[in-house]
Amino acid sequence: MTTSIGVAVIGAGMAGKAHAAAYRSASTLYESTLPEIRLVSIADVYEPLAESTAKRFGFQRHDTSWQAIAEADDIDVVSVVVANFLHREIVEALLAAGKHVLCEKPLSDTLDDARAMLAAADSAAADSSPVLARIGLTYLRSPGIAYINSLVRSGALGNILNVSGHYWTDYACDPDGPISWRFTGPNGSGALADVGSHLTYLAEFVSGSRFTEVRGGTLSTVIPTRPKPLGVVIGHEHAAVGEERERVQNDDVAAFSGLLSTGATATLQVSRVAAGHPNTLVLEVFGDRGAASFDFRHPGELQLYLAGDDSATAGYRTVILGPDHPYWKGGLAMDAQGVGIGQNDGFVFQARAFLEEVAGIPEEASLPRNAGFDDGLHNMLILDAVARSAASGGSAVNVPAAVRVGA
Ligand SMILES: NC(=O)c1ccc[n+]([C@@H]2O[C@H](COP(=O)([O-])OP(=O)(O)OC[C@H]3O[C@@H](n4cnc5c(N)ncnc54)[C@H](O)[C@@H]3O)[C@@H](O)[C@H]2O)c1
Repeated sequence: MTTSIGVAVIGAGMAGKAHAAAYRSASTLYESTLPEIRLVSIADVYEPLAESTAKRFGFQRHDTSWQAIAEADDIDVVSVVVANFLHREIVEALLAAGKHVLCEKPLSDTLDDARAMLAAADSAAADSSPVLARIGLTYLRSPGIAYINSLVRSGALGNILNVSGHYWTDYACDPDGPISWRFTGPNGSGALADVGSHLTYLAEFVSGSRFTEVRGGTLSTVIPTRPKPLGVVIGHEHAAVGEERERVQNDDVAAFSGLLSTGATATLQVSRVAAGHPNTLVLEVFGDRGAASFDFRHPGELQLYLAGDDSATAGYRTVILGPDHPYWKGGLAMDAQGVGIGQNDGFVFQARAFLEEVAGIPEEASLPRNAGFDDGLHNMLILDAVARSAASGGSAVNVPAAVRVGA
């Protein structure tokens, strides 16, 4: 077994800091079975951020290029947490250099890039010294969402008929907020890819099925231009802007319906201009024997309805999450019911699962592995089908299988 694992994070922005914090805490989840985790470097082209993030989360050094990480002998595991259009080049170089890669979602801005990344991942996995490529679909780690998945698998909700969800954010509400990489990729790489990548993955995860068709796709850009920033823009933060404005090239709001492989339907909507909703992810699953509803504003609970109760008292009830639900027991430092859980915890479970896989620790049902690049490509094929449906006025579009190069 590996004696120690050297870790680096490329990108110290909004999500990069969550990865850095997660690697720092990963050993404190569950029993101490992980080898020593060496927090080696944080790389960001904006040096003050790389330096402060490395210092804050206890990494040994900082770097200002991803190439420095690829070339370093003391680094085994790398999170790629930069703009989506940069993922391919960096991931391919890291895999070629023998690093295990955890890449943020979505895999990239284009299907061509995503296919090439899957090919690179397959080739790295087949190498004589194989390395792993995984994708950070972090909400898999939300105990409420994972519990709905287990309710569906056990048949407690009966046959699943419909999944309904929305992921509303408001980071782009202000027309005078600065333009950044989030607004300049192709149509479909806006809200649809940014938060819709999570929602589509979760609709499939909770229902235990896969999209086979989408229809009624709509992509809307409701704020057509945004001002250029005068300096660095991190995450969703505001920054000083100039007079000059640039065209927004992708969607602020997106919606579609879909058919799932089990015959259920899904109805999903996403937005980055939903005022008052900084991070509202709501997912509801309706079966013929019950229903479950999860709202990320209350991540420590879910709503459950089971058919068959006395009709006078039947209805949804609030289930407070705790050690009887996924991830919780023996994982969280205080693993009691009702202590709550949040998005930052999800990154820690994600990092722990990745490090366990790298270390060769057998997979436990209580902490499943992270999704692979094949799942990442499939996820992008759904998003692409939505964009094609939207371009054709909402017609039905098949979601093709994520075919591997050479398969
Ligand atoms: N899983 C989640 O919940 C979640 C949440 C937010 C973002 N994300 C994903 O994380 C990724 C990054 O998003 P973000 O919001 O953190 O972005 P961000 O803009 O806040 O940060 C990106 C950072 O990358 C740095 N950077 C740019 N070019 C670089 C290069 N060539 N080498 C090294 N660093 C470089 C920038 O200086 C910046 O600090 C995206 O793929 C996004 O979709 C995931």
